[in-house]
Amino acid sequence: MKEVNSGDVLSLCKRRGFIYPSYEIYGGIAGLYDYGPLGTQMKTNIMDLWRSIYALEEGFVEIDSDIVGPEMVFKASGHAENFQDLMVTCKLCGEGFRADHLAKDFHPNPGALSKKELGELIVRENIKCPLCKGDLSEVEEFNLMFKTKIGPGSGRIGYLRPETAQGIFVNYPNLYRYMRETLPFGAIQIGRAYRNEISPRQGVIRLREFNQMEAELFVDPVDKRWPRFSAVRDNKVRLVPNTDEVEIETTFGEALDKGIIAHETIAYFLWVTQRFLTKAGVDPKRMRFRQHLKTEMAHYACDCWDAEALLSYGWTEIVGIADRGAWDLTRHMQYSQADLTAFKRFDQPQEVERKAFKPKYGLLGPEFKARSAKVGKALEAADISLLKDGKVELDVDGEKLSISDKYFDIVDVKEKVNGVKFVPHVIEPSHGLDRILYTCLEHAYTLGEENYVTLNLTVDAAPIKVGVLPLMGKDDLDKKGMEIDRTLRERGIATYFDDSGSIGRRYARLDEVGTPYCVTIDYEVFENGTVTIRDRRTTKQVRVPESEVVHVIEQLLHGRPFEELIAKV
Ligand code: ATP
Ligand code: GLY
Repeated sequence: MKEVNSGDVLSLCKRRGFIYPSYEIYGGIAGLYDYGPLGTQMKTNIMDLWRSIYALEEGFVEIDSDIVGPEMVFKASGHAENFQDLMVTCKLCGEGFRADHLAKDFHPNPGALSKKELGELIVRENIKCPLCKGDLSEVEEFNLMFKTKIGPGSGRIGYLRPETAQGIFVNYPNLYRYMRETLPFGAIQIGRAYRNEISPRQGVIRLREFNQMEAELFVDPVDKRWPRFSAVRDNKVRLVPNTDEVEIETTFGEALDKGIIAHETIAYFLWVTQRFLTKAGVDPKRMRFRQHLKTEMAHYACDCWDAEALLSYGWTEIVGIADRGAWDLTRHMQYSQADLTAFKRFDQPQEVERKAFKPKYGLLGPEFKARSAKVGKALEAADISLLKDGKVELDVDGEKLSISDKYFDIVDVKEKVNGVKFVPHVIEPSHGLDRILYTCLEHAYTLGEENYVTLNLTVDAAPIKVGVLPLMGKDDLDKKGMEIDRTLRERGIATYFDDSGSIGRRYARLDEVGTPYCVTIDYEVFENGTVTIRDRRTTKQVRVPESEVVHVIEQLLHGRPFEELIAKV
């Protein structure tokens, strides 16, 4: 088997209707791609598979939130301040580059380097512009969010979301209520995200508009066990922990017991991710989980494992599984003043110690006069997590007041309570749909003798499940074919009917787009009532009665091994 390169895969994608460069008739735009007919169907299939795992099997609820959001949301999420990549610009041709990408031949993990370290490395190694060999500028930050304005005139500043996740966080109070105020629960969302990437050059791996499938799990910070973990603990996994960055093969259970994976929830969702990716068509031998170094982590994460696939581009992140701790909900509480906590009821009232604001009435009096008692009460009742930059925003009789820390102390109080309020932690498996789809294509791409291309897509991902091929477009073979084709379609099976050209050529066209099975109708249908089913993987064929063909195809699509049919004949 010959080695695959991304150019071959992308050229097939374009030729056969999977992926097209966007706005091609105007010269195209880097980082923007459209899905063609087969790509759109394959994308839908991968989304359906993901939904069936997260929504049906895991019981998560799905939402669909806005793409554009007001500035405040992204100030709260930290993206306005922190969502930036380090870039350099060529002083000669003016092209911009991600500084860490230019440094990749000189450092094992340049993504973990600081601005200063990258700058020093570029000077030390005398790195030049890869396009024109010109000198490079100093390293600078570049915020990746697309800015816009909501409304006309001097309308509000808005941003296109850089991740779908924030739509789930801002809906937390609605979802918590919907879930009848119990944790843990999970919410999922599939949708577009936007990042003004500095130099997108790797096909659909680095897009400026892309598709995410994200799950946000809200859990009790002191209980990160996951009920079904015990059922999956013996499964094997390849991990690259951040301690020594050496790849190991182990089981999920062993990795947890040894403290390599921090808790059951992360471990369970690493397993879910592995299962999903394998079902979608990522080659398990070209897949691993790599833990982020502390210096590499996104601003919101306290732990993160990337599912990486080995592509012709090298090891590439396709899913990120992060422990976002209380970051998002705490920040949205601070910025919106909304209550984003959960409540845990105790079996019996318990004495608990908590931090609280203790008003300095002596100072509140002169400042707030008649209202000072109300301000003091509001401070006593306020949650300590509302404290931001030494101030707390209070609502007193409908008026918003910002109270600085000179008016209060923070003290430990003991009280008997029926339960506690807390800010849930969030565990997030975040999937890049485009990267997953591309990985399935590249891992499926097989170049055989005489440049014969087969896409060994899984049944789940394949856009066309069955080719229906009458040997001739005459002698009623075509009519028989059309009947079979219609019945399959009525059962919800995507088919492709083709009655022209040589049969070998027709198989080749279907192999090239990953069609798992073909039904061929030849003259034996009139002699003994049989047709053939051809298996793409082995290219073997079996004869089955015409009356049973739809049923057998359904069984094959649901996992019955083709070999079983051969054995039966
Ligand atoms: P990278 O380091 O490659 O830029 P990232 O760490 O920024 O990726 P995340 O922020 O964790 O990626 O995003 C979650 C998922 O979204 C990624 O695992 C990836 O599959 C996908 N993704 C992120 N950025 C892009 C992009 N520009 N184009 C396509 N998919 C993307
Ligand atoms: N939600 C993870 C990310 O897109 O950064």
